[in-house]
Amino acid sequence: MTDTTERTALVDDLLARMTTKQKVGQLIQYFYFSLPEGAGEGIDPFISRQPQAVETALAEGSVGSLLFVTDPAETNRLQKLAIEGNEHGIPLLFGFDVIHGLRTIFPVPIALAASWDADTIERAQTVAAREARAVGIHWAFAPMVDIARDPRWGRIIEGAGEDPLLGSVVAGAQVRGFQGEELGASEHIVAGPKHFAGYGAALGGRDYDEVDLSDQEFWNTYLPPFKAAIDAGAGNIMSAYMDLNGVPASGNHWLLTEVLRDALGFEGFVVTDANAAKDLETHHFAADAADAAVRALNAGVDMEMGIFQPAFANLIEAIDDGRVDTARVDEAVRRILVVKEKLGLFEQPYVDEADARRVLADPAHRDEAQRAAERSAVLLRNEGGILPLDPDSLGSVAVIGPLATSQRDTLGPWVFDFDLGETVTIAEGIATRLAGKASVVVEQGVAEPKRTFPSMFEQFGDTSPSAPADFDADAALDRAVRAATDADVAIVVLGEQQDMIGENASRSDLSLPGDQQRLLEAVVATGTRVVLVLMNGRPLDIRWAAENVPGILDVWYPGTRGGSAVASLLFGDTAPAGKLPFTWPRTVGQVPIHHAITRSHAPQNQDKRYWNEESTPLFPFGHGLGYTSFEYAEVRVDAERVGLDGTVTVSVDVANTGDRDGVEVVQLYLHQRFGTSSRPLRQLAAFERVEIAAGQTETVAFRIGPDERRYWSAATRDWVLDATVFDVWVGGDANAQAHAEFTVG
Ligand code: BGC
Repeated sequence: MTDTTERTALVDDLLARMTTKQKVGQLIQYFYFSLPEGAGEGIDPFISRQPQAVETALAEGSVGSLLFVTDPAETNRLQKLAIEGNEHGIPLLFGFDVIHGLRTIFPVPIALAASWDADTIERAQTVAAREARAVGIHWAFAPMVDIARDPRWGRIIEGAGEDPLLGSVVAGAQVRGFQGEELGASEHIVAGPKHFAGYGAALGGRDYDEVDLSDQEFWNTYLPPFKAAIDAGAGNIMSAYMDLNGVPASGNHWLLTEVLRDALGFEGFVVTDANAAKDLETHHFAADAADAAVRALNAGVDMEMGIFQPAFANLIEAIDDGRVDTARVDEAVRRILVVKEKLGLFEQPYVDEADARRVLADPAHRDEAQRAAERSAVLLRNEGGILPLDPDSLGSVAVIGPLATSQRDTLGPWVFDFDLGETVTIAEGIATRLAGKASVVVEQGVAEPKRTFPSMFEQFGDTSPSAPADFDADAALDRAVRAATDADVAIVVLGEQQDMIGENASRSDLSLPGDQQRLLEAVVATGTRVVLVLMNGRPLDIRWAAENVPGILDVWYPGTRGGSAVASLLFGDTAPAGKLPFTWPRTVGQVPIHHAITRSHAPQNQDKRYWNEESTPLFPFGHGLGYTSFEYAEVRVDAERVGLDGTVTVSVDVANTGDRDGVEVVQLYLHQRFGTSSRPLRQLAAFERVEIAAGQTETVAFRIGPDERRYWSAATRDWVLDATVFDVWVGGDANAQAHAEFTVG
């Protein structure tokens, strides 16, 4: 194994002087809960005693990092306790789930991915980093770069969807946004891509359940986004919870050392997911907590994210009796101290609280969030050009649905430090946009849908709104139908509440929860024009809507300024240009589903694999409409044949045939006809987001070289480049038609 750990004089000196207890302390991260007022009723008593226990450990110099503190006065106070708790003045590293913003909430990660726009994504995480750093947070447990092909898995919302190339571009952009030019850049924080590795392939889409991944899927599909994040300089990696092919990820030496360090060249530090070191015992892998600590450390974990009593506390004894090597402990401590040094925490461990308030209130951050929301929305259907709506020709608009007025749901899951008061709902955004033009009537229509089993975030006081006990369902539906009947257009806002998606939020079906389907059908039956606005982080079963509702705009969970962004899209101030980062199934029975399937026996029937329903998706990967139209001319290749390491330039003219300027994400799909392994029928190999003025044509060129063609083959158990023939298609989604071919070798 190559030792990639960086050495510095400061850290060498510290290591020479630290006690074993202090060293082990650096390897432990504690949750520190300051529960919101009123929250925590019935909570595990351990959690309420947590602050005192952690503060005692801080005063003893036995803590390397804390998570979940976001108040700058608190980060300063706890930092002081830590620094004074050890004679070396070693500061704490504060980590937090800065997933899609801290105070300014951006659209959820899957939405950002739907922009297919690295610049927008990098800018979003730059803002998030700036806010986090201002309050004393040094490290984000993000981006989540797990590939997800099964939308039953709620954490599909936290990633970039199904595709390794899109996932890699998004991962790199997020890391650059969080970290800036280099680790330690001012107003930036450490990025912690997670969850290493394969977590998105949970059996049955059930969060935390085991993952059984073939080697070729592992290397070709699930690892590339991690590689991209590491190549972008990520300072941390989080190891996953689940068993990977029978060995828990957080105790898996092959995964955390041979793959992560040796094959991917990762130089930063590895933290476990919450409690995942201790969990090695729960998994029936380690004999007890002490064995769990030893095996996690020896596998390659540097820091344990501990909730209560950390397993790593046992390492002191394990060092004494030789079950772990002191060199391995020093290596882990070194990696953590080097990051603290790079961030400048030895010189400036505290933050300026007044400065933090100013940064959190920066109006430019809200503008960025709105821009990102506008760029993330995906126009799924636009029959008869119902969108954009013309604000000047409307007399009255009905805004209907339980999500239209919910600030909390507008923000989406995985946010904690938001400001509900400044959150613009879709109903508000529409009302503001139409003020002085049209009347806006808002009706809930049906009760807020509810989970059958509560969300784990409820215990922390984070809940979506609920219907009052005396909610009169019939009356609410009647009012909504009347409002729709009287309106020129009905905008129906439906989807999942934010606690129905995210961690611990898997679902066994994809229907619109609660009575929302009934509401939609009742509104459509009025004969008024209907636009469906979807709030979701996974594809939902909208087969009925896809045939009966002319306009469908997917706005995900659009964030702090979501309502303003949605209004600007609906009324044509901006045009949607987002594209689906996943294949949208017709029904849950089709999942897992993705575009890069291989050609198999009876390929003529590949669209009819089920006898009861088409096996094609409802919307293909990469799908998304705009307010203009594009035409693709013939695809050109600059060489019909190149050598094995040669590069072909593929170009195509794309014409904006509408009367409005527009943005198209031009996508190139590749197919290898024969070779060492069977390769996907189509696989995204390149894309570019281009602005094309009305009536204009742009030429888009892609270079397809060895990097785009190389893959890991289970036949040779290695990376290969085949001499073969390639098909290439270029277009606006995975059903692209414009075709060419070239030969390699
Ligand atoms: C999640 C991680 C998260 C951590 C800390 C875990 O349950 O899996 O993604 O970063 O909690 O909140």
